[in-house]
Amino acid sequence: MYLTKDEEHMLSGEYGEGVQEAMRIIVKVGELLGAEKLVNISHAHASGVSYGTIGEPGLHWLKTLASKGAKARVYATVNPIGFDPFKIIPPVSKEFYLKQMEIMKSFEEMGFDVTLTCTPYYLREPKPLERLAWGESSAVAYANSVLGAFTNREGGPVAVAAAITGKIYEAGLQLKENRRPELMIRLPQLNDYAEYAAAGFRIGEIAGTKIPYVTFEKTPSHWEAKALLAASAASGGVAMAVLEGITPPSTYLMNDKMEKIEIERKEIDELIDNIEDVDLIYHGCPHVSIEELIFLNKSIKGKVKKEFWVSVAPKLYEAVRPIIRELEKKGIKVLRGTCPVVAPLKEFKKIATTSAKTYFYLKRKGFDVTIVRLSEVGSVAVR
Ligand code: F3S
Repeated sequence: MYLTKDEEHMLSGEYGEGVQEAMRIIVKVGELLGAEKLVNISHAHASGVSYGTIGEPGLHWLKTLASKGAKARVYATVNPIGFDPFKIIPPVSKEFYLKQMEIMKSFEEMGFDVTLTCTPYYLREPKPLERLAWGESSAVAYANSVLGAFTNREGGPVAVAAAITGKIYEAGLQLKENRRPELMIRLPQLNDYAEYAAAGFRIGEIAGTKIPYVTFEKTPSHWEAKALLAASAASGGVAMAVLEGITPPSTYLMNDKMEKIEIERKEIDELIDNIEDVDLIYHGCPHVSIEELIFLNKSIKGKVKKEFWVSVAPKLYEAVRPIIRELEKKGIKVLRGTCPVVAPLKEFKKIATTSAKTYFYLKRKGFDVTIVRLSEVGSVAVR
């Protein structure tokens, strides 16, 4: 692989052991993927931040890297952790708490912005063609498909290494020639956030890791597109979809010979339920936008009678305190920097969620979970 003089210095250890280790990771992965060179990135986003996800080996690696003096060279953000660090919800053991704090400290020492969110684009929105190295699958799909930025779906350590070097290998979705849809999927009329999420779930099942070209009866809002993409990245491995009317045309190539597949209305409805007796209602996977908070606040009339969680980025929480206060007065717990999937959830058995991604992962963990329409959670919650 061709390396610039500066990249060679990083690899030979002239910038210190931490940078050297990070550069070795980037070069190794790049060589495995057949990359000919590295490119500069403007933003790295690390996934695998919850102690519940990375455990002792992950903590040890981060601490060692920080002790070797590794520092982020570009803007770098991190995914949610295993509890809301302000309210300690859900409750965790003392050991889990302390280990999670050590992980956050290591990221802080390395100069990361400890944003604790899977929607870093609500804090700083990348521009079309901007190069990123992001590790959170839902954010990767959103960056490529909605914003038109370029990122592969990086593993946690690669995203950390990219932050420290400011570099990523030029392969996969970093190359425009690989950003070409491979099949066309037509969706029926969809009317709710959860319906877009369910459609994304079906898209993931069909497309796997291919790039689908998705057509709509009605163009989704950006937060509906977010729900769709997060689900397709979970049930399949979709890192990019071309969304008709949304994906910036300059960021992909067209394909005239695509197989056409139609998803029928009943395939969406089969995934969605009308639930009554649940222990927990959850919205906020991926973390909510301001528009979602406003929608939720308007649609919930009265005090909720069930445990109701919403997940948000801590910085967004600060920015929209008046809406949050209203939601909290209604009995909704607005949690910062966490979600039920990365938290060690114990006390709930039956969970209703608007997110097909949460549905996918909690079901795999053995929970009884159903998808419910966002427009209906309000009435279910107050009954
Ligand atoms: Fe975010 Fe947790 Fe969903 S990290 S995308 S809210 S599973």
